[in-house]
Amino acid sequence: MSSTARTDHPAVAGLELRPLTFPTSLDDADPHAADFLAMVDVRNEIHRLVSGHDDHCFPAAELLPHYAPQPWEIRRMWLLLLDGVPVGRVGVDLPLEGAQTLALFFIDLHPDVWGRGIGTTALALVERTAREHGRTMLQTYVEHPEVPGPRLPAPTGFGSVPSEAHNVRFLVGHGFVLEQIERNSVLDLTAPTDGVERLLAQARERSTDYRTVSWFAPTPPEHVAGYAWLKSRMATDVPAAELEVPEEIWDAERIAVHDARYTSVGRILHVVAAQHVATGELCAFNELVIGVDRTGASHQEDTLVLKEHRGHRLGMLVKCENLLRWREIAPRSPRVMTYNAEENRPMLDINEELGFVAVAYEGAWQKQLH
Ligand SMILES: CC(C)(COP(=O)(O)OP(=O)(O)OC[C@H]1O[C@@H](n2cnc3c(N)ncnc32)[C@H](O)[C@@H]1OP(=O)(O)O)[C@@H](O)C(=O)NCCC(=O)NCCS
Repeated sequence: MSSTARTDHPAVAGLELRPLTFPTSLDDADPHAADFLAMVDVRNEIHRLVSGHDDHCFPAAELLPHYAPQPWEIRRMWLLLLDGVPVGRVGVDLPLEGAQTLALFFIDLHPDVWGRGIGTTALALVERTAREHGRTMLQTYVEHPEVPGPRLPAPTGFGSVPSEAHNVRFLVGHGFVLEQIERNSVLDLTAPTDGVERLLAQARERSTDYRTVSWFAPTPPEHVAGYAWLKSRMATDVPAAELEVPEEIWDAERIAVHDARYTSVGRILHVVAAQHVATGELCAFNELVIGVDRTGASHQEDTLVLKEHRGHRLGMLVKCENLLRWREIAPRSPRVMTYNAEENRPMLDINEELGFVAVAYEGAWQKQLH
């Protein structure tokens, strides 16, 4: 099919793109709660079908705090209905930091309705929204289930996606460029811990200028400044290929909002950080999270060693210590998931030594708007 046909934005009969107003509560009394609940249902169903498991599914109550208005970004979302039935959703995030040229988005459609032009219609909405806010770069992260056939390699030289996958064809057909591959891997939390203990002992021997400190969200006052600095460096010190990543400013207020997203709904966030003994500076950290269902998968969120403190096994140190503590904190969680850039060899080496196994790959895609 020619690219002209794909930019033609077909009108799809019976399709409604309904803007969501994020509710402040999920009570029936909140007029916006029903559409939010419908959005979460369709979100979880699509993740289940595309990934083949429940580990990316979250209850509505745990997602809601992530959509409260914040000064550092605008979040827009639409529920897609076909003949009145929810079939998908579209999200656009507009960072209000850095150059403000970027729009991050996703389109999630139920597989039953793929191939009818709904994705193309949704992408036209994304592009319109981005342009209205003066954005010139679209960015999306997408899981690509394996299909046989030719591969599209990432320009980083690390990893590839299947060219014939429906969503690869969709993105390429609409002018997107594959920039980077993210590896999604999983660690079995029911396996013996002796390997992790051995790696922890080795990391301690190599990091004698550092000690570890740990806490549960909300962040204790003595660590707020150090943690805020580490969080801000996630935007600058992590391999990003040619992806546009706005710098982020983190202060005590932003840490409080971040922490409350977990604590206000009963999720657990536990942080292990490495502290430089001589200066007291926090220089590395690892976060583990579990939802209200303590039998579900755990998620490893941010991990970072500041550039100037690399080479002392601090990544291994904070990961091992958090994983061992996690066995006591969330003893019924069967596994932990993580994401890493496929070219991030130092981090992948650590994860592979710990026993993480790749389960899926994501593509990070960009499109320059003209
Ligand atoms: C990727 C995704 C958004 C595509 O949505 P979609 O509705 O299937 O996309 P479209 O129907 O607009 O386009 C897909 C194909 O259908 C064709 N098509 C477009 N209009 C059509 C129509 N009216 N009838 C039949 N086919 C049509 C397109 O040309 C395209 O063909 P191609 O595969 O030969 O390139 C959807 O599969 C999805 O949600 N996947 C899971 C999440 C995801 O991967 N999102 C990625 C985007 S962020």
